[in-house]
Amino acid sequence: MRTSIFYYTGTGNSLWVARQAAEALGDADVRSMSAWLQARPAIDSTSIGLVFPVYIWGVPAPVMRFVAALPDLRDRYFFAFATNGGQVSNTLVQLQKLMAGRGLRLSAGFDIPMPSNYIPWGGPGPRQVQEQRFQAAQAKIAANAAGLKLRRDTPIEKGPLWQRIVFSAIYKACFGYVPRMDAKFFADEKCTNCGVCAKVCPARNITIESGKPLWHHTCEQCFACLQWCPTEAIQYGKRTVRFERYHHPAVALKDVLKTRP
Ligand SMILES: Cc1cc2nc3c(=O)[nH]c(=O)nc-3n(C[C@H](O)[C@H](O)[C@H](O)COP(=O)(O)O)c2cc1C
Repeated sequence: MRTSIFYYTGTGNSLWVARQAAEALGDADVRSMSAWLQARPAIDSTSIGLVFPVYIWGVPAPVMRFVAALPDLRDRYFFAFATNGGQVSNTLVQLQKLMAGRGLRLSAGFDIPMPSNYIPWGGPGPRQVQEQRFQAAQAKIAANAAGLKLRRDTPIEKGPLWQRIVFSAIYKACFGYVPRMDAKFFADEKCTNCGVCAKVCPARNITIESGKPLWHHTCEQCFACLQWCPTEAIQYGKRTVRFERYHHPAVALKDVLKTRP
């Protein structure tokens, strides 16, 4: 393959964007970062894409681990798509710096607004607006495919300065607490003990104890457990019971399960 596109996803947006990019580029495969981290096979492709969600206005820890584990690939062309709910902030600049620290060069970084899966702040928004975001994402990927094929340098996209200052400070303050942020998850009376939450957790942070999920404080905050629960039994604090669940409509649970360790 000429291009390998590696993704990390909780609710499918980033997997869908990775698939769209592979289709637009041609001669490309789509691979899970978690699966690669398990076996760390050689990467032969000349171009490498990274697709992942923005978490708390920055790069999620599993993506940092992926970048840290990459071998010496300084002769390759790297690009990235950061999917987000509308505030990419400094995420792609942060990724560029992380990669530079490993001697790798991020040549292009794109902000891809998608429906938000951050349910503590509400649902994903009206279907029509979701559809508009999918179409805009597709159009942006298609518009940039030629440049990516030619391995062109494109400015790394970022949010307004005030966001980058304020939100990067919040990211830094919160980052260390993410694994323990699962303290607010619980399963309500709708739980059927099906075990989907444990299976879909990329961090293997959930076990089923006495018929209910138990979170073990190695959470990545991807919200896959809550969003993929077939009975909507998983809640995060008191508010989420009121909000619509979300996963990308073209991504199935089995697609995400395949990527889990
Ligand atoms: C813990 C968490 C934090 C998030 N923080 C942000 C954020 O800072 N800015 C933003 O625009 N979207 C944020 N989001 C929304 C996701 O980035 C967005 O929905 C993304 O496309 C989800 O990708 P996935 O479906 O591949 O997991 C956050 C989501 C989660 C779960």
